[in-house]
Amino acid sequence: MNTKKRSLNVVYQIYPRSFRDSNGDGVGDIPGVIEKIDYLKWLGVDTVWFNPFFTSPQKDLGYDISNFTDISPEYGTMGDFDLMLEELHRQGIKVILDLVLNHTSVEHPWFKESASSRDNPRREWYIWRDGKKPGGKKPPNNWRAATGGPAWKYFANTDQWVYFHFLPFEVDLNYRNLEVKNTMLNVMRFWLNKGVDGFRLDFLHAIYEDEELRNNPFSWRLFPSDKSVAMLFDSHKYDLNLPDTIAFARELREVVDEYQPRRFLVGEVFGDIEQTCQYCGPENTGLNMVFLFEFTSTAFKPRRYARIIRRIEECFPSPNTPTYVFSNHDRVRFITRLSNNEEKVKLAATMQMTLRGVPFIYYGEEIGIPNVNFKLKNSQDPIGKKYAWSPISQIPGVGFSLSRDGCRTPMQWTDGPNAGFCKDGVEPWLKISNSYRKKNVAAEMKMSHSLLNIYRSLIRLRKTVPAIAIGGFEFIDLSGQDKRCLAYRRYYEDNEIHVYLNFSRKKVKFTPVLPIGNYHILFSTRDRNNELSEDGKNIELGSYEGIVLDTVEGKESDL
Ligand code: GLC
Ligand code: CA
Repeated sequence: MNTKKRSLNVVYQIYPRSFRDSNGDGVGDIPGVIEKIDYLKWLGVDTVWFNPFFTSPQKDLGYDISNFTDISPEYGTMGDFDLMLEELHRQGIKVILDLVLNHTSVEHPWFKESASSRDNPRREWYIWRDGKKPGGKKPPNNWRAATGGPAWKYFANTDQWVYFHFLPFEVDLNYRNLEVKNTMLNVMRFWLNKGVDGFRLDFLHAIYEDEELRNNPFSWRLFPSDKSVAMLFDSHKYDLNLPDTIAFARELREVVDEYQPRRFLVGEVFGDIEQTCQYCGPENTGLNMVFLFEFTSTAFKPRRYARIIRRIEECFPSPNTPTYVFSNHDRVRFITRLSNNEEKVKLAATMQMTLRGVPFIYYGEEIGIPNVNFKLKNSQDPIGKKYAWSPISQIPGVGFSLSRDGCRTPMQWTDGPNAGFCKDGVEPWLKISNSYRKKNVAAEMKMSHSLLNIYRSLIRLRKTVPAIAIGGFEFIDLSGQDKRCLAYRRYYEDNEIHVYLNFSRKKVKFTPVLPIGNYHILFSTRDRNNELSEDGKNIELGSYEGIVLDTVEGKESDL
């Protein structure tokens, strides 16, 4: 196996509902994506991950699926999908679909059958149990749903409770039933046979539950965090990250490995880095990658980032590949966490694009769309609806939001009507951020140092410099300056680059590893001249500046 060469370089996440509406119903769709393939090509991303567009009542905006092998009409038809796949492939762009193995909608025909009677042949496809004795009118155990409240819903017709991990209309499939498991593996094969390049696996950590349904021990943790699955005083010991689930990752890998060219699996698994790395296996025999979310919630401080990177490097040595994620469709947008400071985003993007690991860009992140603060009572997101009574809807600084609508607003293409997302006169499914007059693709394409052009240059750099794309990683010791700066080297064969990042508002000066003459500036977040140093010795970085330097071998520079 060639372990060094990886073929996912930069992944771009598209929330189809919000990318581009082609037919004037205010909802983004697959033909809309096809219209924008030129943009993806221009930006330079090599892989696109789509949030679910399968048949669904849309109560959780597509994660509540009622048919895994068809397209929901508001997004288009299977013919549209086939065309999109073909066009993206023609442009050399890979396609990753969002596979929700853990649960189905309550409106899925399987569940309707399963719920109809205790002796229905599909009864065991879901997890049904009697309530607690006496009377059975209390849930079978103390497990809590990830969105709060008991993880069980009572059905009077059969006098039993069914288990769900997230929301009551998204019921967990029972993977201890082999028919279920094989059916879902065949769902994967259905799409792989169509030629998709892989899957993002939704909620994979929730696949198996304890067979005896033992009560979860108490935890002191109240709020959700990226460091632990414990929350709402529940440790989630017996319902999440079970050894059976980790073993299942390997079975999933075997399915994708049946296919050529190579396919990919990236898992959404919650837990700390030390726990989630188990899904990839020591020799990368499990999932190809898992999302690592600590960057989405940590403070903008170099030491904090360095600590996370160090742990990631320890847990994901080659042939494993880490991932670097700042935002997605569930989290407060990154720029809002950074008080809308574009310079900070440019710096962080430089870090994200030059680390050893696959960067994921969430649509709109590249133009700086901020989070929008919606009233909970108007929420489209079922979590927002559930908590509509809450007086506080979000604390953006720490990445906390009770509704996910705020990070899902339509893409901003132009400063024209509806930001070019949908036709004039059409009401988009979610209000567009007011920022669109300034922050839009058309305007930012024209400005040389816009956030968009910075992303584009970084993507190009990542593609063309082997040390960045596939090289090793090592921190550069900044003795004394590490409170303000972060620096590292990336190397592959005779290609070596050094990255210096200044996380402070003030200018900084330090002696680089090599004499100044051995460097050549490949990239800077600022519009600087080619002089790296004023005194010929030290590197000077401006406020929030990040630079990428190519190194020239000592011998050559002496000539
Ligand atoms: C994942 C998805 C989220 C969805 C949930 C239930 O966390 O990212 O958007 O609501 O799973 O499928
Ligand atoms: Ca539409």
